[in-house]
Amino acid sequence: MKIGFIGTGNMGAALAQAVAQVPGHQVLLSNHNPAKAQTLAQLTAGTLLSNPDLVSQADVIFLGVKPYLLASLTQDLAPLAKPETVWVSMAAGVPLASLAQHLPLDHTIRIMPNTPVAIGQGMTTYSLANPDLAPLLEHLLAASGRLMQLPENLLDAATALAGCGPAFVYQMIEALTDAGIEQGLKPSDAQTLVAQTLLGTAQMSLQSDKHPAQLRQEVTSPGGSTIAGVVSLEKHGFRAALMEATKAAVQKTKELGQ
Ligand SMILES: NC(=O)c1ccc[n+]([C@@H]2O[C@H](COP(=O)([O-])OP(=O)(O)OC[C@H]3O[C@@H](n4cnc5c(N)ncnc54)[C@H](OP(=O)(O)O)[C@@H]3O)[C@@H](O)[C@H]2O)c1
Repeated sequence: MKIGFIGTGNMGAALAQAVAQVPGHQVLLSNHNPAKAQTLAQLTAGTLLSNPDLVSQADVIFLGVKPYLLASLTQDLAPLAKPETVWVSMAAGVPLASLAQHLPLDHTIRIMPNTPVAIGQGMTTYSLANPDLAPLLEHLLAASGRLMQLPENLLDAATALAGCGPAFVYQMIEALTDAGIEQGLKPSDAQTLVAQTLLGTAQMSLQSDKHPAQLRQEVTSPGGSTIAGVVSLEKHGFRAALMEATKAAVQKTKELGQ
């Protein structure tokens, strides 16, 4: 199949690299400034085309432009596509109903990926009206990490947790790294300690049936140093800050999609 990507910025490029690892498909790329997509074309063995040429050839089209550009872009390009072409929108907050103003609803998928798809460790949620499209999406994104189909009314929440989540986690890595530097560690050592600790903790959480509170308790001996840190985090509103950040991100996602 010919798999097209319109808009090869951060997210479109990350997904194109994941799709390029699935054998048997040809990658087609189109970007507003084509020079920006040259390296990606080499990485994916992809062909750079104009938007209209890509749309007329592709069997599946991933739309990687900003949400506010989507309506005019699909209005112009949808009439040039083959009737059976499948459209995949990654635009934050844009509902299937809005996409269906210019795209055929039963050939359209709304996805919410995150940037770790570029290294095969992504978390992509998706919603669709036509369940027959799910196996195709799961096949094309098989090298991207995990996928989870959700009812569309939960996709904005998933956007905040998984789409925006990497930014929250990077902020945490940065803060903990600085904390380690303050205690005398070399910056590179501090960053490795923090990132590997997050990775290991996340893997244990995925592999365990235990609630995170129980896993935390197993690290927290009575009167010890960990509980001293945990109490300090509680005093400074750590959990409330994360919950408020998620709520703010959901609210903004809803606004962006309108
Ligand atoms: N970044 C994330 O973590 C993330 C996560 C989940 C979903 N998303 C979604 O992914 C989409 C893209 O976000 P992004 O962060 O990747 O933005 P980005 O880096 O700015 O990429 C957007 C790309 O679209 C290109 N473009 C603009 N107009 C175009 C047109 N008419 N035809 C072809 N290409 C065009 C831009 O090219 P020029 O730069 O040359 O103008 C740019 O390369 C958004 O809808 C966003 O909601 C992003």
